[in-house]
Amino acid sequence: LDNGLGLTPQMGWNSWNYFACDINETLIRETALAMTKNGMQDAGYEYVNIDDCWAVSRDSNGVIQADPNAFPSGIAALADYVHSLGLKLGIYTDAGILTCQKRPGSYGYEAIDAKTYASWGIDYVKEDWCSTFLDNPVQRYTIMSEALNATGRPIFFSLCDWGVDNPWNWAPTIGNSWRTTPDIKDNWNSFISNLMAQVPIAGASGVGGWNDPDMLEVGNGGMTNTEYVSQFSLWSLMSAPLIAGNDLRNVDPDTLAILTNQEVIAINQDPMGKQGTLVRSTNDGYNQIWARPLSDGSRAVVLFNSSPNATNIELLWSDIWVPINTQLSVRDLWSQSDIGVFSTSYLAENIAPHASVMLRLSTSSKY
Ligand code: DGJ
Repeated sequence: LDNGLGLTPQMGWNSWNYFACDINETLIRETALAMTKNGMQDAGYEYVNIDDCWAVSRDSNGVIQADPNAFPSGIAALADYVHSLGLKLGIYTDAGILTCQKRPGSYGYEAIDAKTYASWGIDYVKEDWCSTFLDNPVQRYTIMSEALNATGRPIFFSLCDWGVDNPWNWAPTIGNSWRTTPDIKDNWNSFISNLMAQVPIAGASGVGGWNDPDMLEVGNGGMTNTEYVSQFSLWSLMSAPLIAGNDLRNVDPDTLAILTNQEVIAINQDPMGKQGTLVRSTNDGYNQIWARPLSDGSRAVVLFNSSPNATNIELLWSDIWVPINTQLSVRDLWSQSDIGVFSTSYLAENIAPHASVMLRLSTSSKY
């Protein structure tokens, strides 16, 4: 969407994956403050997003009302606080009559809701797709997109129809990102399923509008740190939104190290915005080579061992659109060290089960 936002994939946090409906203004404030103190804000995380369950009703003028028990100070005061930290506040609604958790949706109230959000100082709106019956998603999401635009406030618009209506075909002119899959769960099969669904649609993503394979589960405990490194590596390679979904008030150092790896984030935020994809696989599809070109001419690569056994994966220069015999310096983005200069291929040995090696390869040694 050409609204000046989403020039690189959005980065931030969302309440849903860890807290679901158990949210309130103290949690949002503490989370925002944590982001300013734990290095995430410096690493580029910007949006603090409230998901479902913040709203309870409409007043006699149709104006949406926050739950007075959970948000007694109101959303505008929360936005002021989040802005005072240099961060941005996101909110959630639904294109239907009710949200997925049976709170009031925006159906028929798009104009008034957009105005309300803008008056509160909201910077980001996620619009879900529950209780929409046989509504047409292109029409419905266009109504909200235009309503947000009409407020004059720059508001990032995140579509969430879970990929059911092939949004990659129509959403790029309506929103800044669009969910492409069912909800991610904090387990290996869900991660792999959302990952592989991106391969056929990689071309739809670009500056101003991004495929969204759903939020990060890094730090939520259902997968190993090795698996979380893989999710973060692959989400970064795919220009996916980097929306943390864990409890940032109690974050362990390993989780924080994953979420704030600047060299990996730089791949995600590359200004060319070309989504990386699976370029080759071996070992019955288990050994995967994912790659993307970067704006400075270098290449980013993830060598992903999705098998249950340790393995070697060989990267060929033909996988990354580079002529054989070209000298490339290879940098490992997780150890943040230069491995050396190679020609034609690079062999990564003994990659642990479910682990990823993430590399940046360039023709000069400037990294
Ligand atoms: C479905 C969405 O896909 C989730 O991300 C979350 O927003 C829930 N609805 C909230 O009810």
